[in-house]
Amino acid sequence: MSRLLEVKDVGKTYGSVIALRDVSTVVNAGEVTCVLGDNGAGKSTLIKILAGVHQHDRGEFLVEGEPVKFASPREALDRGIATVYQDLAVVPLMSVWRNFFLGSEPTVGFGPFRALDRKKGRETTKKALSDMGIDLRDVEQPVGTLSGGERQCVAIARAVYFGAKVLILDEPTAALGVKQAGVVLKYVAQARDRGLGVVLITHNPHHAYPVADRFLLLKRGVSLGAYEKSEIDLAELTRQMAGGAELEALEHELRAAESPS
Ligand SMILES: Nc1ncnc2c1ncn2[C@@H]1O[C@H](COP(=O)(O)OP(=O)(O)OP(=O)(O)O)[C@@H](O)[C@H]1O
Ligand SMILES: [Mg+2]
Repeated sequence: MSRLLEVKDVGKTYGSVIALRDVSTVVNAGEVTCVLGDNGAGKSTLIKILAGVHQHDRGEFLVEGEPVKFASPREALDRGIATVYQDLAVVPLMSVWRNFFLGSEPTVGFGPFRALDRKKGRETTKKALSDMGIDLRDVEQPVGTLSGGERQCVAIARAVYFGAKVLILDEPTAALGVKQAGVVLKYVAQARDRGLGVVLITHNPHHAYPVADRFLLLKRGVSLGAYEKSEIDLAELTRQMAGGAELEALEHELRAAESPS
């Protein structure tokens, strides 16, 4: 097992807002670390630190054992950390294959004679997609014509093709129907099986449970718990997510208020 990322007691404040406090987890090659939490829990803040969008101001962030503080997403990408954001930075009217390469298109010739190598671009994209088991009829079709799930799949295949070691997905299944969410989760599992370390963000324990190896539960910027899969079952994870312990405490409080002694 190889440890790709580790955060130790990281914290982040935006002005006076404490977005994250004392959060720790690890990401290993060939495993999925799942970050769960409600709106405003700090999930995106955590992955933005991993992705080089923001810097932590407390604790430690280690990449393959080395403490880092990325100054930009480019630096994270250079270390093999690829992030697929929920809104996906795609150009809807551009073809699938152009989006696949966006900024790194293959060319033929050199200097002023350099031109886009369309044939190679199309073939490479088709091959990379089919290697992941994604069968697109036509890579020349605009990305805008793909379903949300298919777009996520293209983004995952792209990260794998460009050699990412860590794949971070911010709520890839949030806007999807049951069937499409299942397809995206299948590719998450495939990226994992190819040896990538995956960070999956979701607020749905049913999406998280089948593919994850460990869970980090966040609430209002702090960790509610960190579990290996063997330590928690789906029912308990769901209960924790729903604020089970808090509900019980509230119930207790209400009952106590009803019958003052
Ligand atoms: N750029 C920012 N400036 C100030 N506050 C911010 C900024 N980004 C996030 N926050 C605050 O930090 C907290 C955590 O936000 P974050 O986006 O990490 O939550 P999240 O778990 O991703 O939520 P969601 O499920 O809604 O995406 C929130 O209270 C949010 O308002
Ligand atoms: Mg978020």
